[in-house]
Amino acid sequence: MAPKPIKGINPFRGQDILSVKQFDRENLRYLFGLAEEMRIIVERVGHSNLLQGKVMASLFYEPSTRTSSSFIAAMSRLGGAVIPINEVVYSSVTKGESLPDTVRTLESYADVIVLRHPEVGSAAVAAHYCEKPIINAGDGVGEHPTQALLDLFTIEEDHNRVDGLSVAMVGDLKYGRTVHSLTRLLSLYNVKFYFVSPEILRMPPELIEEVKQKGLEYEELEDVSQVIDKADVLYVTRVQKERFTDLAQYDAVKDYYVITPEIMKRAKQTMTVMHPLPRVGEISYAVDADPRASYFRQMKNGMYVRMALLTAVLGRA
Ligand code: CP
Repeated sequence: MAPKPIKGINPFRGQDILSVKQFDRENLRYLFGLAEEMRIIVERVGHSNLLQGKVMASLFYEPSTRTSSSFIAAMSRLGGAVIPINEVVYSSVTKGESLPDTVRTLESYADVIVLRHPEVGSAAVAAHYCEKPIINAGDGVGEHPTQALLDLFTIEEDHNRVDGLSVAMVGDLKYGRTVHSLTRLLSLYNVKFYFVSPEILRMPPELIEEVKQKGLEYEELEDVSQVIDKADVLYVTRVQKERFTDLAQYDAVKDYYVITPEIMKRAKQTMTVMHPLPRVGEISYAVDADPRASYFRQMKNGMYVRMALLTAVLGRA
């Protein structure tokens, strides 16, 4: 099921948000402009009534801290209400209810459904059975489009541009849905990619093919020290234990990369370090005080971008 293309004024009204493939530079401008307005609202008064009377169902089949809570915070700050279903353990999913029936139930009560699910393509399946907009909050090793939106928003904010940047993605590039979505989104711009991973966690061939098709430069490497002085953005990811069937393989690569203050000495003064979080050791806590550490700014921006997306999808922009 291909996502519907998004174009025009408030291009997101009533739309499912399933993949970053739905975005172009024009509709990203629109969304990021709205996200800037959301930041001003939050910083000046904390809340607004833009989504008063609207209800969001937050349906998470996998654990989440940032995505679920920032969507809930976004809806709450805009005056809307939330139906929270976390890890589905207290829902009828444990009685065997299917995803289609679950979303058909929730759309009877809610105006938009935010869905995280362990299977690739699950958001598209949900959208097929649901009249109300579905927002993909991560579908297995597939995509995490709203994470990529907040990542791009943060890159642009930190560097005042995206074109011309060199972006190094480090860690689990095979199973990391955040790097899959961000690679696709950044491919709308003139960037150079460094894909840094252990051999068994390389970027999937279809993503490499997409980068090639766009005519963008890229290199695949194993050693982060080969790119630390070249990158403008170092996007670090966690090796995700939950994606491995063979735990011996996980143990072999789990501590492959650790970004430390020592490594940061060789990085550009303007380089930023990003991470979708959670981290489990791949960025040392001692890096947090470095002004180039962008991961907490990135996390905060998630709420503004999700406020913008909800407002646009619900037609109140
Ligand atoms: N970045 C991210 O998706 O974090 P959570 O898993 O905590 O939502």
